[in-house]
Amino acid sequence: MKLKSIKEAKHLFGQHILVRVDFNTPVKNGQVVDNFKIQASLPTIKFLLHNGAKVILVSHLGRPIKKEKKFSLLPIALELEKLLGIKVYFGNLGNRDDWEGEKLVLLENIRFYKGEGTNDLKFAKQLSQLADVFVLDGFAVAHRDSASVSSVAKFLPSYAGLLLMTEVDGLSKIVDKPKQPMILMLGGLKIETKLLILKNLLPKTKKVLLAGEIFNTYLWAKGHEVGASAVNKILKSIVLHLLKDKKIILPVDVVIGTEKGKNARVASLDKKLILKKDEGIFDIGPKTVLLFAKHLKTAKTMIWNGAFGKFEQPPYYHGTYSLVRLFANRSKGKAYGICGGGETVEVLRHLGVLNEVDLVSTGGGAMLDFLSGKKLPGLKNLLK
Ligand code: 3PG
Repeated sequence: MKLKSIKEAKHLFGQHILVRVDFNTPVKNGQVVDNFKIQASLPTIKFLLHNGAKVILVSHLGRPIKKEKKFSLLPIALELEKLLGIKVYFGNLGNRDDWEGEKLVLLENIRFYKGEGTNDLKFAKQLSQLADVFVLDGFAVAHRDSASVSSVAKFLPSYAGLLLMTEVDGLSKIVDKPKQPMILMLGGLKIETKLLILKNLLPKTKKVLLAGEIFNTYLWAKGHEVGASAVNKILKSIVLHLLKDKKIILPVDVVIGTEKGKNARVASLDKKLILKKDEGIFDIGPKTVLLFAKHLKTAKTMIWNGAFGKFEQPPYYHGTYSLVRLFANRSKGKAYGICGGGETVEVLRHLGVLNEVDLVSTGGGAMLDFLSGKKLPGLKNLLK
């Protein structure tokens, strides 16, 4: 997939550029807790400022039903000022004259306006009148068909920002022509989204290393007593059908215990699991770590979405941590590594290896949709 990059825009000097970013980031007591997504859009903001443009940033925060202080972008404006070391004018959606002379503007939460969620064309046009050029930089919001993402591009010359270019280029490598062997690692919850990726990427993948809710559902369907493990009974037949594929490598042992980490022990899957009602499957076992590592070491392309266990609760982090370390170690050299999804990124950050992976996607739902082969509404007006 080829997008028009902002680097191709001829005239930026003195132009007003409306940039849709995704600064939907955790905020606690008026402070940004995690600035990963803000950092990710800094190259685009700096590029535009450096080229003499006036930048008007638009973002959402959360899913507000009405205007509420907890959804205000003010803490984000302050964080951005800190990161850039320049003044950020923070204001409501008005008109260009309101911020005459300002170089960098961040508008209040765009979801405070009804027209955003309803994808109202009149509202999109009103937004477009704030600027001469539109840039979509927030890959994480590219799957939303809303006024500030997809529709504003109908009214202005539109380009992809540097973050969006990086993410779409990286993910396209996987979807179009991955360097083989490609290994896909899927874990975590939200089984419906993972099954769509599995279905779409299976033909291009050499091996799939699978754990999490899909695997729990498989074990349950095969007659194991899985106690309180996350299982999706409705998707039983799809799981049984998909997991028949010989490319899929399943765990050979798991760590079971209570959700709070009590009575944790390794259980081999040679025989049927019998878990108490308050116990669940919360990690892959040591033999599975070795098995998965053996396959991962053969990869030239690696994609990971979803942790392999309840890593936030000791002692259930061993499986995920060991494989994340190997994944990071092989990235940027031996293999091309891409990962995404809130908890996967959290593990990378916790282990201090965020910068060692080729591409850490800022997109949750957007990455899943892209890898599932869906068309993202935000990209359709940016195609070359
Ligand atoms: C995300 O966090 O995945 C994006 O900001 C999209 O948010 P949304 O799911 O509320 O549209």
